[in-house]
Amino acid sequence: MASIGVFDSGFGGLTVLRDLKNLLPQYNYLYLGDNARTPYGNRSFETVYHYTRQAVKWMLDQNCQLVIIACNTASAKALRTIQQRDLPQWSVEKRILGVIRPTAEVIGTYSKSGTIGILATTGTVNSESYLLEIKKFFPGLKVFQQACPLWVPLIENNEAHTEGAQFFIERDVKRLLNQSPEMDTILLGCTHYPLITNQIKEATGSHIRIVSQGVLTAEALKDYLNRHPEIENKCRKDSICRFYTTDDASDFEKLAVVFYGEPVKALHTDFFAPQGS
Ligand code: DGL
Repeated sequence: MASIGVFDSGFGGLTVLRDLKNLLPQYNYLYLGDNARTPYGNRSFETVYHYTRQAVKWMLDQNCQLVIIACNTASAKALRTIQQRDLPQWSVEKRILGVIRPTAEVIGTYSKSGTIGILATTGTVNSESYLLEIKKFFPGLKVFQQACPLWVPLIENNEAHTEGAQFFIERDVKRLLNQSPEMDTILLGCTHYPLITNQIKEATGSHIRIVSQGVLTAEALKDYLNRHPEIENKCRKDSICRFYTTDDASDFEKLAVVFYGEPVKALHTDFFAPQGS
């Protein structure tokens, strides 16, 4: 019997796991944060693919039946290639899902004006994955994007509530809002950003609706498991969560509580050798 894997470059996916657990508490989950190599947001396509591929393979080897790539950057740059090229060689029964498609499927329903903004990492913005996916479901929706390259490093270093961070949050939100006065909804297109929702709200003002992905991903997973009993039947239901990090486990535990909302016990995994062997 298997777990549901949840992967992120670092801590951000814990905001998604928290919502998965709220909606679907019965399952066993295995979380992996690639903290040793975070952030992914400014890295090349090849590097993000290489890191994500290694991480997902390790999770499948830990008996995950289904892996959710709870990282927009990795979903944008690596998911499709892993699904199409790697997974068929690794397993015909297991599945890998991302966070961009389930978000794109519903995001248009949040906007009255038909204009939304997306805040995300440079990698996610440049991939144009959101623009392509949203067009499939809401062809008339106007979508504007803004890269926020410093937000993940600030959040991962527990510096998000400093004056310096405030400057960059306000600057990037303003750059997004300046792209269209019609914008009434902003998607947090990075799983780290829910941690600074209040600061983002202060910068947008109350007339803008802020949407984060955890709940959307949880609803999509519930629906997916209903439609795929062959996967659901293999998922173990003891309500156990295991946490792994590629960096130091006690460092992970200290910051994880901020993202997850409760203390966690973590283990270190060294499935990749940093020297590239
Ligand atoms: N949480 C990741 C995302 O959703 C952050 C990427 C990073 O490591 O920069 O994009």
